[in-house]
Amino acid sequence: MPNLLLVATGGTIAGSAADSADTSHYRAGALSAESLLAALPEAATLGQITAEQPFALDSKDMTPAHWLALAALLRERLAAPDVDGIVVTHGTDTLEETGFLLHLTLPRTKPIVLTAAMRPATARSADGPMNLLQAFACAGTHEAAAFGPLVVAGDRIWRARDCSKRHTHVPDALGGIDAGPVGVAIGTQIRFDHGGDGAAPYFAGTLPSELPRVDILSAYAGAPADQIDASVANGAAGVVLALAGHGSVPETWLPAIARAVARGVSVVRASRVASGGVMPQANFDDAAHGTLACGRLTPWQARVALMLALGMGVARNALQEALLRA
Ligand code: SIN
Repeated sequence: MPNLLLVATGGTIAGSAADSADTSHYRAGALSAESLLAALPEAATLGQITAEQPFALDSKDMTPAHWLALAALLRERLAAPDVDGIVVTHGTDTLEETGFLLHLTLPRTKPIVLTAAMRPATARSADGPMNLLQAFACAGTHEAAAFGPLVVAGDRIWRARDCSKRHTHVPDALGGIDAGPVGVAIGTQIRFDHGGDGAAPYFAGTLPSELPRVDILSAYAGAPADQIDASVANGAAGVVLALAGHGSVPETWLPAIARAVARGVSVVRASRVASGGVMPQANFDDAAHGTLACGRLTPWQARVALMLALGMGVARNALQEALLRA
């Protein structure tokens, strides 16, 4: 039997509501890791399970300081000889940000499986217990480690770097970003379609004690350019622009972008379009304007990658490569 560790951080999977038919008024992160396990006796057939609870958050309140604390904790637990696999419970709302940070920073030595739920634990047909059970099953497999952090929900398994929230309220809310699942869970049987690459994470070095401020600024019809100046004035070391189409920059933003670049702020072109990303030089002369392109990353992923790159001292001339390879 594998030794599996549950690291609980809150979310709807630990949510509690007064009314079992109410799936939109509840407190996320209300139930402890122990009570999640107590409600899931079947998990004992999948491994020897211990639990710890670094936070009990609604994931809208997750901050970069929580990311760093969680990554440091998980690195330490992965190195422990008595841990064979780890399950992390998290809210669905910002799971894709935490998941991507863990993808970029954790070694692929043992399984790390994130899971979540859309219905609170007290709801009729709560999705959390089966998701958690399948996450334990996945964390108990040898093959899971080589993918890096995975997300298990609704019988599907994605790499955390490929998974995002696609719907605001249905149970089947998580889905792939330009990529399908890497496997499925059928009950507690885990099937992978192919193997993971086992590559080292892009940011394998010592984590910084804090991450620099990077803001995401969105383009829309008539969006004011002064939001870029405001970010820079408020201390942003980088801005990710969630632009229209393939990273198309409004003409009215050009002077503010030039001012930001002149002050040494990293300006990344990303897209508000769900798929495809933004490639360097596409639709814009990045070399001439001193801007970067996010590659295939979403704006939220590009922000995480840029924060890590700046926080870990990646040289300015290596930032574009970091975004493309992260
Ligand atoms: C949260 O993200 O913590 C609340 C919403 C959810 O888990 O679905």
